[in-house]
Amino acid sequence: MPDRVLVLHGPNLNLLGTREPGIYGRTTLPEVDRMIRGHARGLRIDVECRQSNWEGQLVDWLQAAARERFSGVVINPGAFTHSSLALRDVIAAIDIPVVEVHLSNIHGREEFRRHSVIAAVARGQIAGFGPQSYLLGLDALVALVRGRRPRAAGRPARR
Ligand code: DQA
Repeated sequence: MPDRVLVLHGPNLNLLGTREPGIYGRTTLPEVDRMIRGHARGLRIDVECRQSNWEGQLVDWLQAAARERFSGVVINPGAFTHSSLALRDVIAAIDIPVVEVHLSNIHGREEFRRHSVIAAVARGQIAGFGPQSYLLGLDALVALVRGRRPRAAGRPARR
């Protein structure tokens, strides 16, 4: 069975395409999701993309992720990155790897964006590559998930 990966988009990412295009570009969220699904096919994983403006909804999805048989999560927490202890705590609580991604380079922006409360509990962070950040996040997550599992005996390593 192929690995299942959950991609979560946080608040205001549904506005991509028209939201501050000088910072976030003109690619819409459905277009980003299409790129993610295409990349997932190449990686031979199943991917599901969800967006919410609600912190509690994101917490619920993260709590349920392992139960729903996801092997890991790629999340762009949006502005919750900088403030949400509830998201931080749920990521610390669950037993599957989470990769944090951002379209913009949060470390080169306003002071308040330079600190992520998520970073310490995520397995890593990718920021600054536009929609490509999600694809790099998927690559990183898949490497983590596949590296965690012993290969079935007699099966050659995939190139
Ligand atoms: C963002 C960066 C956050 O600071 C901001 O609040 C967002 C988008 C990014 O993808 O660059 O909503 O997460």
